[in-house]
Amino acid sequence: MQNYQAILKKTLITKEQLQVRIQELAEEINHDYAGSEGLLLVCVLRGAIMFLVDLTKHLTIKHMVDFMAVSSYGVGRRSSSGQARISLDLNTDIRGRDVIVVEDIIDSGQTLHSLLQLLGSRGPKSLEVCVLLDKVERREVNIPVKYRGFVIDNEFVFGYGLDLDEYYRNLNFVGVVDLEKYQGNEG
Ligand code: IMP
Ligand code: MG
Repeated sequence: MQNYQAILKKTLITKEQLQVRIQELAEEINHDYAGSEGLLLVCVLRGAIMFLVDLTKHLTIKHMVDFMAVSSYGVGRRSSSGQARISLDLNTDIRGRDVIVVEDIIDSGQTLHSLLQLLGSRGPKSLEVCVLLDKVERREVNIPVKYRGFVIDNEFVFGYGLDLDEYYRNLNFVGVVDLEKYQGNEG
């Protein structure tokens, strides 16, 4: 198992930059949902966990959180298969609720597209997306993104919830992977 320094090409977004931007996003949400009765944040596991936790710390409005797990990559794949599989569903009935889907990154958009279709069919009062990282140039399907942390280039990133073959989610910054130095997760 390589330590992260061995495969870090560069730090893309520092811990401090993340925290400043996440607080700004939370303040926007506080403002926009000030009158909301049943706000629910849907955290998409596992990549969005760090983002969800830091975001909710800055929310001053009443809200609930729930979790869903969706997978579209297998280990070792670096792009979406296009077909998202729900492996964990919500415990909350979202009918009539204001829902914000909290996601780590949008790449092709396929994962969120499937997820939004499913959630939309359950009759929420409103449905919006809050994403930390957006690889805009990779988009294959249109996704309406209300809250966006950072637009990033088409490079494979890791840390702050995002994994490289399920490892390195714990880093407190977002880094670019040096795929030439990366030897896979078997060792
Ligand atoms: P999409 O369906 O192509 O939009 O892919 C979205 C999902 O792919 C995200 O939820 C991530 O789990 C994963 N993903 C996309 N790009 C990266 C990356 O650069 N690093 C880590 N995971 C990524
Ligand atoms: Mg994800």
